[in-house]
Amino acid sequence: MDVFTTPSRIIITCHKWLSPALQAEVKELGFSVVRSFQTGVELSGTVEDCIRLNLNLRCASQVMYSLKAFTCNDPDELYNNLLTLPWENFIAADGYFSVTSNVFHTTIQTNLFANLRVKDAIVDRMRNKTGKRPSTGSTLSGAVVYLFWKHEEAEIFLDTSGETLAKHGYRKLPGKAPMLEALAAATILSTKWDHQSPFINPMCGSGTLAIEAALIATNRRPGLLRSNYAFMHLIGYNEEVYLKERAKLTEQIKEREGLQIIASDRSDLAISTTKTNAAAAGVENLIQFATCDFEKTEVPEKAGAVIMFNPEYGERLGDEIELNATYARMGDFLKNQCKGYTGYVFTGNLDLAKKIRLKPSRRIEFFNATIDCRLLEYELYAGTKREDKLSEKQDV
Ligand SMILES: C[S@@+](CC[C@H](N)C(=O)[O-])C[C@H]1O[C@@H](n2cnc3c(N)ncnc32)[C@H](O)[C@@H]1O
Repeated sequence: MDVFTTPSRIIITCHKWLSPALQAEVKELGFSVVRSFQTGVELSGTVEDCIRLNLNLRCASQVMYSLKAFTCNDPDELYNNLLTLPWENFIAADGYFSVTSNVFHTTIQTNLFANLRVKDAIVDRMRNKTGKRPSTGSTLSGAVVYLFWKHEEAEIFLDTSGETLAKHGYRKLPGKAPMLEALAAATILSTKWDHQSPFINPMCGSGTLAIEAALIATNRRPGLLRSNYAFMHLIGYNEEVYLKERAKLTEQIKEREGLQIIASDRSDLAISTTKTNAAAAGVENLIQFATCDFEKTEVPEKAGAVIMFNPEYGERLGDEIELNATYARMGDFLKNQCKGYTGYVFTGNLDLAKKIRLKPSRRIEFFNATIDCRLLEYELYAGTKREDKLSEKQDV
């Protein structure tokens, strides 16, 4: 079986709650989505399709190509099932592969044990068939095999991505509490921004939102910044197919005359970090940088403009008092200085969000690391009203 041309089930995984944005991206690429769930989407396709998906998707983590689904009650059944697959047709006998897994089964105490059984089956099969065995390790730089096993149902996949797609390869410096790139992209794709009007990002930190906005507006895809994927290490990989897809990414870049993306932060270090990261992403020239309090950020008067904040949420004791004041000031700033804008605040602290004292028109659910977050949307038309004391007590 040539996996590059044989269709099978493809599962694209993502971080929790990114699947609506991921689903829209997959459809935009011309694929039909069979099913969507909290942490991924399912479709049908070949590993050649996976190449395209890997290079283009902003909100995904891994693109998995299914080899076999089977009933499995214990580690021996796992081993015996995997022994029947023609691994010598997928992985070079003198190559390298890794195994990753998600296992929820009473006979498995640690995923490492399940990974070891998968590795044993693959190595034993290949030694039998070829007289050689590939090397193995935990670094995801070669071929990657992924096991999903929940209760009695197991499924084995070729992970065509390897290292996660959720990082977009430009973050040279982390900054303070940076957003995951895939999360930042998904939040921007969930806004009403038209990719042409101004995008203002005060409190930019390491610049993830401003950089993702520039990448989205100019249709620069993550594949432009990455050169190694697990699919490149599978038997049957044709570099020409990859290079053709890669060339399309360059052709599809859109120049946006007059595009205004502004990134500001009160910290000099944050602005120099944002510049470094923006340069690595190739969008330094598309962003205007300013070191200032958010209240001093330039807010151009243009229809369709969007302003997006990702303030701190206060993890340390004592942060609360300062942050209460910051969120209240943010509310004043949005109401008084950003008329005609659509405003967005991404936060993991809904009590603090109430201090903004504006009524959100949408509350979009997200998750950041282990924190339940919301992207709050505010329509800032001229007559935007402050919420009164009573409505302050409403859920945000
Ligand atoms: C949570 S971080 C933003 C992280 C960013 N989204 C990223 O991906 O790197 C919040 C940022 O707000 C900045 N900040 C806090 N208070 C500010 C204020 N009053 N004016 C401007 N920036 C402020 C901090 O310096 C910090 O860089």
